[in-house]
Amino acid sequence: METLSIAEGAFLRPYTQSDAPALTAVVAANREHLARWLPWAAAYGHVDSIDYIARKEAQIEADDGFEGAIVLDGRIVGAAGFHRVDWINRTTSIGYWLAAEAQGRGLMSATVRALLDHAFGNWDLHRVIIEVVVDNARSRAIPERLGFSEEGTLREAKLIRGGYEDAVLYAMLASEWPAPREATGSE
Ligand SMILES: CC(C)(COP(=O)(O)OP(=O)(O)OC[C@H]1O[C@@H](n2cnc3c(N)ncnc32)[C@H](O)[C@@H]1OP(=O)(O)O)[C@@H](O)C(=O)NCCC(=O)NCCS
Repeated sequence: METLSIAEGAFLRPYTQSDAPALTAVVAANREHLARWLPWAAAYGHVDSIDYIARKEAQIEADDGFEGAIVLDGRIVGAAGFHRVDWINRTTSIGYWLAAEAQGRGLMSATVRALLDHAFGNWDLHRVIIEVVVDNARSRAIPERLGFSEEGTLREAKLIRGGYEDAVLYAMLASEWPAPREATGSE
């Protein structure tokens, strides 16, 4: 995985095991904020960071896509990447999160834009999807801002705090990218 430039002072880079303490700390500091939509955050600790980083290193080794840390001004403030790559159908899915304090400045929209550039430009993939719980308005705004098509509702697709919630399926095709840049967009 190469480091992707996101914005001034911000980039997406691969994890190293030395990131484990910082990753654990940022999740702990944002536990409620993250766990509302990402159940793994509810009981996430240091051992989980070590295990997660090892799995992400193996993912890159296996040529199955990548997930990386979003670093802003030298600190990990989030994460984003590809869950896996289906090379047969040339498709992948994207996931992401940001610390609460890092929201509201377009960081994740720029990150997903860079991931799409990479998926279509470097890997020649055909289709990229994002699945978002219906009520997660802030997350839904990202694929909508970038011009993804809403393809349907995935019924009771996400188990969150003991209950199944519907998700929206968003997709972008290679032929539809690059989407028009927003007038206020920054790189
Ligand atoms: C989903 C999540 C990453 C969205 O974060 P975000 O900060 O809203 O998204 P962005 O970084 O793209 O920033 C967009 C915001 O910055 C503003 N912004 C400022 N400059 C901008 C720019 N140059 N480009 C785009 N947006 C910009 C936008 O107006 C928007 O703010 P608004 O919601 O008040 O209109 C974050 O809320 C999160 O991590 N939530 C918890 C975990 C989660 O839900 N993960 C996703 C599971 S599917």
